[in-house]
Amino acid sequence: MALVRQRAAQGSNATEIEKKIKRGNALRQGSAWRWSRGSVALLLGALSLCGAAVWLYVTSLDSEVTETLVSRSELVSPQPRVYAVECSEDYENYKRYPGCTPQKCGRAVTDSVVTREEAQALRRLAERGLALAGSDGGASILDLHSGALSMGKQFVNIYRYFGDQIKDVFTQEDFQLYRDVRERIQAVIAETFDLDPAMVYLTKPTFFSRINSTAAKTQHDEYWHPHIDKVTYGSFDYTSLLYLSDYGSDFTGGRFIFMDQNGNRTVEPRAGRVSFFTSGSENLHRVERVTWGTRYAITVSFTCDPAHAISDPALP
Ligand SMILES: *[C@@H]1O[C@H](CO)[C@@H](O)[C@H](O)[C@H]1NC(C)=O
Ligand SMILES: *[C@@H]1O[C@H](CO)[C@@H](O)[C@H](O)[C@H]1NC(C)=O
Repeated sequence: MALVRQRAAQGSNATEIEKKIKRGNALRQGSAWRWSRGSVALLLGALSLCGAAVWLYVTSLDSEVTETLVSRSELVSPQPRVYAVECSEDYENYKRYPGCTPQKCGRAVTDSVVTREEAQALRRLAERGLALAGSDGGASILDLHSGALSMGKQFVNIYRYFGDQIKDVFTQEDFQLYRDVRERIQAVIAETFDLDPAMVYLTKPTFFSRINSTAAKTQHDEYWHPHIDKVTYGSFDYTSLLYLSDYGSDFTGGRFIFMDQNGNRTVEPRAGRVSFFTSGSENLHRVERVTWGTRYAITVSFTCDPAHAISDPALP
């Protein structure tokens, strides 16, 4: 009996201890659970703070858009849409060329100078050329005139680097198309700004660009900084951009932004769209960062100074 009682006592002791252990475990689990709930809440809080910071950063970069001059879905045809702006004093630092030096300044957009089919053909040309190399960063250029092609962190001359093989990449028709398009752009610029088309000359650099969202590796990849073409390249008087892909469906971000004192005004790229403007400080601009997809365009620039004229690119 005594033995049984003792065992029972031990038994009850044992169950007391077991209960304590269990309660302890439960408490520990409870506090562990409470701790993890707390940390989840903290983590979520931190994440949403980060999210808000990123959102603020992104919007502070790219949403100071106050007006869309031309959206992707509009079709500007047959006449260009012209926005006059007062000429800056930049041109006074240069010799004046009657029939060319800007008397009136501004910016214009047209969708009726280059067809979408022509834009597609030029885009394929750009794709073939840029497939030969390309920048390590998100922005590559191909200049058919000088032969400059982005390669890694620098540039090569395609005519020297690839020699005769370049004729397997580009055809005479490609160069003919480029010339035709360049002539038409020159004509619409001359007509819009009342110039003598024969007094306006193609100048360098003139190049294809391919931009995606890959991070910049060198300064050459940083296309998004605000700039003035006439300050960057003294010879420029008129700048034009021919878009070879569509904003919104081929890429996002990548809108062209005129940065005016009283607000930012954008042009949304559309394949075949030509945007052109006088190159002085009246047209300070930048390109919004591309956030998705690939943006193709051609920059074709013109000068009034015959000393800076270049001939159309040609196969060697
Ligand atoms: C950007 O283009 C390059 C070259 O084609 C490619 O290697 C890279 O993966 C692209 N980046 C994105 C984010 O698509
Ligand atoms: C235009 O955008 C830039 C950044 O791209 C910004 O600093 C500036 O405040 C904007 N201008 C206006 C008037 O919103």
